[in-house]
Amino acid sequence: MTAKQADLVIHGARLLTLAPIGDERPRVGPAAADIGPVDKGWVAARDGAIVATGHGAAWERLELVDRAVVEDAGGRVAMPGLIDPHTHLCYAGTRWDEFVARRSGSDYLAILERGGGIHATVRATRSATDDELLALMRSRLDRLIAAGTTTIEVKSGYGLEPEEELRQLRLIARLRAESLVDIAPTYLAAHALPLSAGGEKRPFLRAAQGALAEIEREHLAEAVDAFVEKGVFEPEDVAPLMHEAAALGIARTVHADQLNDVGGAAFAARIEARSADHLSRASADGLRALERAGTVAVLLPGSALFVGYPPPDGRRFVAHRVPVAIGTDHNPGTSPLEGMPAAIALAVTLCGLTPQEAIVAATINAAHALGRGRRTGALVEGRRADVIVLDTDDERELAYRLGARLVRSVYANGKQVATTEIVS
Ligand code: NIG
Ligand code: FE
Repeated sequence: MTAKQADLVIHGARLLTLAPIGDERPRVGPAAADIGPVDKGWVAARDGAIVATGHGAAWERLELVDRAVVEDAGGRVAMPGLIDPHTHLCYAGTRWDEFVARRSGSDYLAILERGGGIHATVRATRSATDDELLALMRSRLDRLIAAGTTTIEVKSGYGLEPEEELRQLRLIARLRAESLVDIAPTYLAAHALPLSAGGEKRPFLRAAQGALAEIEREHLAEAVDAFVEKGVFEPEDVAPLMHEAAALGIARTVHADQLNDVGGAAFAARIEARSADHLSRASADGLRALERAGTVAVLLPGSALFVGYPPPDGRRFVAHRVPVAIGTDHNPGTSPLEGMPAAIALAVTLCGLTPQEAIVAATINAAHALGRGRRTGALVEGRRADVIVLDTDDERELAYRLGARLVRSVYANGKQVATTEIVS
């Protein structure tokens, strides 16, 4: 038998394979804590795809092609690249005043109602040029990649008017085209009612719905999202938009039950959303509906921490066998997290996931939340070679050392995209 060829090998690792994955559905129950560890493990890739994994010295029998990259992990953890299934990277401006006001008691939704909050970021983002917005997104993405992210969802949503949303989606498409990491674009069609709408939701939502055909033609978004919340949009407001998305073959996702239970979880299940996100206030009925629909719950503890509302209780989701993923929700209003390691640490400390559940939630289950459950999220032959090496031999450190720079090297699609010199 001829030896397999490889252009990337990481060996001598505590390898978290996130296998077995015989069952390709999002993980629940005991599988939701199974990180598939292999000591003295290795992973090899060729042309961006994993060609083999194993343990011991067997990797030495691989045929290394010219200029192959070989990293000796020296017993450190190597695991799938982190997957951030919920970000709002496309924005300009800051919200310091609002942040400070909220810390002294101002209410997030009341600020929005008065024309601040999301509207403040809409004003700043609309007045930024294409080049300015692209530069902002690039620098944010670089920081997230350095912290281990190899697949990331990026939403529009600070345009509101469809024409401005389209501009933002086209900029996200440019970012996607130039990036080595995998970007999943989402049209956040109903983030807030524009102030110019004079309180009339129907015409605005019809226009948002009208933009879907163009978005589909240009492949500008894989999913459509809406902020379903008290005083923002009710499930019935956005149901036609979501049904039209489904008819066009565009996936659905929902900001659901973040601050109030408005039946967002059950709505997400009804429209067969691929994920329902936030869910701090989701009811038991809502959780049962998500379980039946197989919709992934994306927990976003960063926004609970920074806005100051009770974080979602991860144990409830696990008990209801709802698949759990986690994300940064990076945005200027509610969550400044600049990397998935912080989301992992908060998912454990605030939401009560175990470190192993948080790792599953940040890898394979997050891949499922983005419709990529067979493409990435596990170190298994045939998947994208998205791998990170940590500066520790114990993955539980990810859950504990909040704020530490624990990611040592990052490979996306088989290419090294970040490396950190750690002075010890
Ligand atoms: O996920 N709450 C809705 N959307 C974002 C925040 C948007 C903002 O405040 O700018 C979130 O928390
Ligand atoms: Fe969000």
